[in-house]
Amino acid sequence: MSASRSILLIIGGGIAAYKCLELIRRLKDRGIASRCILTKAGEAFVTPLSVSSLAGERCFTDLFSLTDEADIGHIALSRSTDLLVVAPATADLIAKMANGLANDLASTALLATDKRVLIAPAMNPRMWQHPATRRNMAQLEKDGVLVVGPNSGAMAERGESGVGRMAEPAEILAAIERALAGEAPAPQRAIGFLGRLPGGGGGAPGVLAGQHVLVTSGPTHEPIDPVRYIANRSSGKQGHAIAAAAAAAGARVTLVSGPVALPDPEGVETVHVESAREMLAAVEAALPAQIAIFAAAVADWRVAAEATEKMKKDGSDLPPLALIENPDILATIARRAAGRPELVVGFAAETENVVTYAQAKLARKGCDLIVANDVGGTGVMGGDANTVHLVTQDGVESWPTLAKGEVATRLVAHLARLAAGRRPA
Ligand code: C5P
Repeated sequence: MSASRSILLIIGGGIAAYKCLELIRRLKDRGIASRCILTKAGEAFVTPLSVSSLAGERCFTDLFSLTDEADIGHIALSRSTDLLVVAPATADLIAKMANGLANDLASTALLATDKRVLIAPAMNPRMWQHPATRRNMAQLEKDGVLVVGPNSGAMAERGESGVGRMAEPAEILAAIERALAGEAPAPQRAIGFLGRLPGGGGGAPGVLAGQHVLVTSGPTHEPIDPVRYIANRSSGKQGHAIAAAAAAAGARVTLVSGPVALPDPEGVETVHVESAREMLAAVEAALPAQIAIFAAAVADWRVAAEATEKMKKDGSDLPPLALIENPDILATIARRAAGRPELVVGFAAETENVVTYAQAKLARKGCDLIVANDVGGTGVMGGDANTVHLVTQDGVESWPTLAKGEVATRLVAHLARLAAGRRPA
């Protein structure tokens, strides 16, 4: 290959396979050559001809093609590249990788490679949340596989939505560039480095190096009909600042964010959701994590029956809006019997009796620490400063009014110490 950087792109069998055509084009624009393997299932979605036309190289499809083996062979194919990228990484491909199966060209190349592997999972949300997929992803975590996505949103299947959409070509491209940039820890965090940071030369060891931190941020939107929703006021500034501070401290960070007007923090894998139920699903999908910080202003209720068409003002009775309670994400995670993060942190925005209410909330939710913020004064909601009290079973630590970025940095340092102090020596 003529370009100085090259990837081996393995295109799996999913509707998102078409996005790989755009990815190949974007890679070329960036001077990154792609050599492609198209799985049998992938061929149902894109053709070898379209792939090879865009890549400017033949597209490999068959493990037992004598010509291919004579030409290059699957071992050389998997090693004469800088990075292997699997997109879409289907549940089937992930399962094969996790178990070391090698029964076609794609899985054989993945097993034979001595290069790093980046996967862009894509599947139905239920498949993504299935215990088997969770197990397989945990195995890939141990194996040091890099991950980008999946995102939350509508599925190709009618009426289905949730976490499982493949990351967009621009996101995958950014993840590839970061992986190709080498050993720097920030790029690995940025694309969701699942494994431990490589020992020696693995980059600046921050206080949270090698740990996974999960943060929720922003409001949730609970649909009433296609144009209206219920929400809390929340800018997401504090939650996003915490995610950025955890990344700066060396953690791999997953930020599950409701709709906000903020850019995704640098070096953080951000999953965008709308409703509380989507937020819970995204949080559960992102586990395991050592530290989970729930800063989102989740709507307590949603309407019992969302209207599928816009509700009309017809001049007569007001429409009845029956509400039902949303899942409490913080309490659900804090009370998990298995896979509970070591530290579960909640927020409590109060206008009066800030500490007393926070102490009650600590017990009710089953978390380890509540960051109680006094929203009685003006300007906290959407503003840049925050006055917080850290409430644990052991007592209360009150901080002066600080910029939200400063609260985030101090909180991350505090949690790192707390987590380290709880681990056996
Ligand atoms: O119950 P309350 O809304 O006062 O609790 C606030 C804390 O609980 C915050 O940490 C918030 O992110 C979390 N929470 C949640 N899911 C809900 C409601 C609140 O995670 N449905």
